[in-house]
Amino acid sequence: MQKKWWMESVGYQIYPKTFYDTNHDGIGDLNGIYEKLNYLNDLGVNLIWICPFYDSPMDDNGYDVRDFFKVSEIFGTIEDFRKLVDKAHELGIKIVMDFVLNHTSDEHPWFIESKSSKDNPYRDYYIWHEGKEKDGVKVEPTNWGSFFGGSCWNYDEITDSYYMKIFSNKMPDLNWKNEKVQDEMISVGKWWLDFGVDGFRIDAVSHLDRDEYIDVEGSKDKYPLDWHKFSNLPKVHDYLKKMHKELFKPYDALTIGEVGGSASIDQAKKYAGFDRNELSMVFNFDHNWCNNLFEVTNPKKLKTNVKQLKETFNRWQEAFKEGGWLPLNWLNHDQPRLMSQYGDYKYPIESGKMLATALHMMRGTPFIYQGEEIGMTNYPFEDVNDFNDISSKATYTYELEKTPDDSVRALKVASLRSRDNARTAMQWDDSSYAGFSDVKPEVLYHENYKKINVENQLLNQNSLWHHYQKLIDLRRHSNYHDVITYGTYHQLDIDRDDIYVYERLLNNQKLLIINSFTRKKVFYDLTGYSIEDVLISNYKNQKYKDQKIMLRPYESIVLVVKE
Ligand code: GLC
Ligand code: CA
Repeated sequence: MQKKWWMESVGYQIYPKTFYDTNHDGIGDLNGIYEKLNYLNDLGVNLIWICPFYDSPMDDNGYDVRDFFKVSEIFGTIEDFRKLVDKAHELGIKIVMDFVLNHTSDEHPWFIESKSSKDNPYRDYYIWHEGKEKDGVKVEPTNWGSFFGGSCWNYDEITDSYYMKIFSNKMPDLNWKNEKVQDEMISVGKWWLDFGVDGFRIDAVSHLDRDEYIDVEGSKDKYPLDWHKFSNLPKVHDYLKKMHKELFKPYDALTIGEVGGSASIDQAKKYAGFDRNELSMVFNFDHNWCNNLFEVTNPKKLKTNVKQLKETFNRWQEAFKEGGWLPLNWLNHDQPRLMSQYGDYKYPIESGKMLATALHMMRGTPFIYQGEEIGMTNYPFEDVNDFNDISSKATYTYELEKTPDDSVRALKVASLRSRDNARTAMQWDDSSYAGFSDVKPEVLYHENYKKINVENQLLNQNSLWHHYQKLIDLRRHSNYHDVITYGTYHQLDIDRDDIYVYERLLNNQKLLIINSFTRKKVFYDLTGYSIEDVLISNYKNQKYKDQKIMLRPYESIVLVVKE
């Protein structure tokens, strides 16, 4: 088994816009991250992924890049980033940047050239196509839908043709078939690795190739979203192999691809198998939607499908038990808050700690999303104008079309799934604006900051924050470092829908991880186990009866057992 520094790391994801504001404009900035490095170091993480801070018109909060070599003015300067990287490295913290390969902003100079004429040298940097005639009118080349609603083509008058954009109109897709595009992006990567970053989270990486331009059949939608048309197609792997050879490997860079909900396990293995020479690992979203999120309208009625969740984790853990590695994360900047998704608002501390343990004891590299360590929650949206996120607005419009008389329903549905839930201001303390900024923030902040904040939890040894700190410490520095990092994973009692139990084993060390997913008291039979120690738990003093352990609501416990 090959060992790498990033397998032994614990990551933390930062959404710079909402992390911490230092120059009093109500928007988070790079200096804010710099000032909080000691905080992150105290928490114990040693790897930070920072969402995009490139120069951008911010149609999609920075994923629409206007200049790959420039820091956005709202976030600071390249000198600020220099300071940040240097101090992080002094503290032993590695930095991973977001690398957006699939598209640029429509304000990127390449696109401005590309759209200007059909024979412009940059024309072929993007994907252009003529419209087609349908019933005597000109329409998009295909009926394919985009992720943010509407067609995945946008018409451009100058050359009377359409360009592809699977996200927003302001995010034209790059044409990866063009070798010049491949080489340009390799140069961008080199520039940042030379600057000193340690690797990349690669955005939307599964979408770099396109299927034949044939309409999606059999949908009642005008622009059906069928992501197979632009996901996990064969050429993506050629592009990644080239990037690996010319960029990732020479720099020994860590690469985590976002393959999202579109990649099956077999596809994921193609991206991240050790023998594939493509990426170090890939993020998937299969465990993010194991509840009725896509049917329910009332947040209080979300119900976790524990069996489905367990099966999902098990599938990925089993598939990657050798020959590859997994990141472990509960959420990111595109998902609802963990506490609102799988937590129990009646038992926030217990369920929050249990969820943390359940994930952090698995095999892989954990990533904490900002605010997760204090149990931040979804935002109570009251109006469609509360949404900042382009895709939340699109969801609202789409849902309203379904029930034009019921805007309340449309708002509720869009709110539950909204990416803005994870993008509210980080709750540092109970001073005005959550200690995020000293002026009224440009971004949303949740009023519950008075109760849920970092300062509070640092003072309280029993807090969720301290539980996360302990989990990280166990993984990174305890005698159980090896088994937690490299041990095998074996799930038990897979049919139970109230508890999630698994073992980790390495040489003569064995851990038994037991997590209750219910408010009810339940038992777990420990016959055959000889218990040596309790590594971490969310209740004091475990309760045993005969050979059984009695689990209180959301009780979670990691036992060291004799092999
Ligand atoms: C990824 C990002 C998301 C962004 C999209 C387009 O899914 O995580 O935030 O909107 O790519 O770049
Ligand atoms: Ca600022």
